[in-house]
Amino acid sequence: KKIAIIASGNGSNAEEIINHFDGSTKAKVLTIASNKTDAYVLERAKNHEIPFFSFTKSEMEEGILEKSFLELGIDLIVLAGFLLKIPDGLIKKFPNRIINIHPALLPKFGGKGMYGMRVHEAVKEKGEKETGITIHYVNEKYDDGRVIFQESVTVLDTDTPEDIANKVHALEYKYFPKVIESLL
Ligand code: GRF
Repeated sequence: KKIAIIASGNGSNAEEIINHFDGSTKAKVLTIASNKTDAYVLERAKNHEIPFFSFTKSEMEEGILEKSFLELGIDLIVLAGFLLKIPDGLIKKFPNRIINIHPALLPKFGGKGMYGMRVHEAVKEKGEKETGITIHYVNEKYDDGRVIFQESVTVLDTDTPEDIANKVHALEYKYFPKVIESLL
């Protein structure tokens, strides 16, 4: 099976996924795409000798992603820290084949503008006793598609947003590659 990853930033999840499928006969990360030319995730792609490309928002809206992913015969599109809204055209071409990971227990702490440290700061501010990760299908709205998998972790009163981020990242690395594998 062929996996495509779309990411905007650091790409530590992308790296975990690449490593998980490295040498696997089941699946392979075929390409990595980013809306940021200087995203570190592209550096990681280079290091792993995985083809990659960047695109602008308008190229995306004009269909660059569906064009390249259809050409490559991609089976699953994985959003790993991608910050733009996926165009309807791509969703229509890949029904139930686009998934996202969100660093909280949706429907809590989701939606437009809720990403990265902002999520963990909000969790802290609200005094939540737990947080976690949500892996879900992507639909036309932010953080709204059907949930595939959730896992929670305890938040201590003494945890800073950075501590929470670390706990959540650990869950992401532990489960995201496995959940992807189970979907393929
Ligand atoms: C992750 O926390 C993920 O849940 C969110 O964006 C972050 C990406 O981190 N959607 P990284 O780029 O994989 O390091």
